[in-house]
Amino acid sequence: MKATATAPSNIAFIKYWGCRDQELHLPENSSLSMNLSGLFTTTAVEFSPSFKEDHVEIDGIRDKTEEGRTIKHLDRVRKMAGIDTKARVISNNNFPLGTGLSSSASGFAALSVAAAKAAGLDLSERELSILARQGSGSACRSIPDGFVEWSKGEDSGSSYAASLYPADWWDIIDIVAVVSDEKKGVSSLGGHKLAGSSPFFQPRLSRIEDKLNLVKKSLSERSFLDLGELVEEEALELHAIMLTSSPSLIYWTPGTLSLMKLVKKARGDGLPIYFTLNTGQNIHLICKKEDCDKAVGLIKDLDFIKQIIVNSPAKGARLLEGN
Ligand code: PMV
Repeated sequence: MKATATAPSNIAFIKYWGCRDQELHLPENSSLSMNLSGLFTTTAVEFSPSFKEDHVEIDGIRDKTEEGRTIKHLDRVRKMAGIDTKARVISNNNFPLGTGLSSSASGFAALSVAAAKAAGLDLSERELSILARQGSGSACRSIPDGFVEWSKGEDSGSSYAASLYPADWWDIIDIVAVVSDEKKGVSSLGGHKLAGSSPFFQPRLSRIEDKLNLVKKSLSERSFLDLGELVEEEALELHAIMLTSSPSLIYWTPGTLSLMKLVKKARGDGLPIYFTLNTGQNIHLICKKEDCDKAVGLIKDLDFIKQIIVNSPAKGARLLEGN
């Protein structure tokens, strides 16, 4: 009754922002992402009749909010498996949490795979994606390999992610630049609830399918400049919705803005590099593999950069050996 799994974080090229169902995390729109090789969570889950209560440790810390979300997820797994055994969950991340690097995506994907296995369930990739989605929406995209689409679906059973292309389809690079590891004030969960209050949210939804199809086309043709333009424009659109929600959400710090300007300047000077970001201050730079050293060189000596993590496209969540 013990299993360990690892799962990557992912970066959305078309973002999930706003839910039709807050409890089930049914999204307003379909989204598309790439798994990240350098940002991951490893989680061990053990169910045992000798445990009196659930015990959850994330990066060595017991936090009430995280524990509550994790136990709710364990309850979903226990219900599916028809057990009421308590569990011990030990989870570790190799990157800072709550700073816009999608730790809940890797976290709930790894938890779903490990907990399902430890509970004796034999779930398909689709079933694991549906389970992970209920913990954190974007976690459903960290289950399949490589470049992944989450179809919004009609209901819980049809809202899941599937791989569009394996990780080795395209060797593009995502460079994460940590400008601050301070935790954000409003989580993505809180942000999704505010999305509909922006006057620009409905216009966004009316164009989103077309945008998604353009990103898919750029992936299928491996057309980097098209992808980069679409991805950066989408990140700014996401933050335009956040900035104009009521109350407004401002995640950027001076370091975030400096990097955005630097990327645009470098592009003007001939380096094909683009940025994207999620709910938080930290930035992802997207470039072709051959431009990776130049892109890292652009930021590595800046005094406000705390950490640089270079990512390739990665496989999805998986059980670790020895289970
Ligand atoms: O899965 P959540 O609730 O953490 O929401 C993710 C929201 C974004 O990161 C901003 C967008 C996305 O699709 O990953």
